[in-house]
Amino acid sequence: MTALRLYSVRMRAEHGGRHLSGAERLVREQLLGSTVANLVERAQAKGIPPDKITVSVEAIGDRKIDSIRSLDLVVHDCADTALCRSLASASLVRAGVSERASSAAFGALDGGPAPSGGNMRGAMVMDAQSGERLEPDRERGIRASRFDWSESAETEASAALALAGLAHVRTREALALASKVAHAPGIVAELCWSDDPDYSAGYVAAPALGYQRFSHLKEEGGPFGGRVFFVDRAAWSYEPFRSYLQERTVIIDTVGAIRSAGQEEPRCRTGR
Ligand code: COA
Ligand code: AMP
Repeated sequence: MTALRLYSVRMRAEHGGRHLSGAERLVREQLLGSTVANLVERAQAKGIPPDKITVSVEAIGDRKIDSIRSLDLVVHDCADTALCRSLASASLVRAGVSERASSAAFGALDGGPAPSGGNMRGAMVMDAQSGERLEPDRERGIRASRFDWSESAETEASAALALAGLAHVRTREALALASKVAHAPGIVAELCWSDDPDYSAGYVAAPALGYQRFSHLKEEGGPFGGRVFFVDRAAWSYEPFRSYLQERTVIIDTVGAIRSAGQEEPRCRTGR
């Protein structure tokens, strides 16, 4: 726990009634103006002009802030989607997810996980053994929020990720999200690939495995994606899980190691 006085700044943009982009930061008061401007620029950078951009600014005040280390990141550059997927399923099984649940998760993401047949607005929650879906609203799912890198950790993580060929802000944000999720009560693992047709990389993350990034978890052009949070039913209940993910403020102030699969030693050892 730290005594930082922070603001949560959250942006979401829509076009034609559909979600276009979203991002958020946790910043000091002095950085509020530049952060809002930067997030509005992000909303405009999608190539589709937003009809509506909503930016919320909220003081964290006296609420508790957790400080954590980012998950160690391992890069798997696989030849094709089939190989990436078999490595990703093996990672899930190593993390404690049954083959049945792993296969249910891949199937749900492949087919469009929302009951309406499209992408969800948040993540599925899945029993890591049975594969049963546990989120009360299957169109919405659950969304992680109120997390960010500290200023120094962001600089360090950006440099280390760039050195590993992962300069896109998306990887830094996904690593931050997965690092928060890995501390959720009852979590076993997470599986993610984007719903963006032009972005086929994805990851499996787990407290014991770190963040395993795979270059292709879907075919180029695929319109479906999402996230699955696998949980240990015996150690999990919905409300503490939801409130941790959506409401607890988490700052990543220490950067984990980053390496390529097969490299014995980390390519960049970044921890302070
Ligand atoms: N997809 C579709 N709709 C979304 C959405 C998403 N990813 N995020 C928000 N919305 C829409 C929904 O209609 C939502 O209503 P709902 O709660 O019934 O689903 C509405 O916006 C309000 O969402 P809320 O989360 O309350 O808004 P917010 O302004 O507090 O935060 C975000 C919005 C997008 C910043 C936040 O939800 C989020 O996802 N933060 C993490 C961003 C991030 O770093 N992602 C990493 C990606 S690699
Ligand atoms: P993205 O990483 O932005 O491409 O999002 C991929 C999928 O993750 C989306 O289709 C949603 O289903 C889900 N998602 C988006 N934002 C969140 C979030 N904050 N927490 C959990 N799941 C999310």
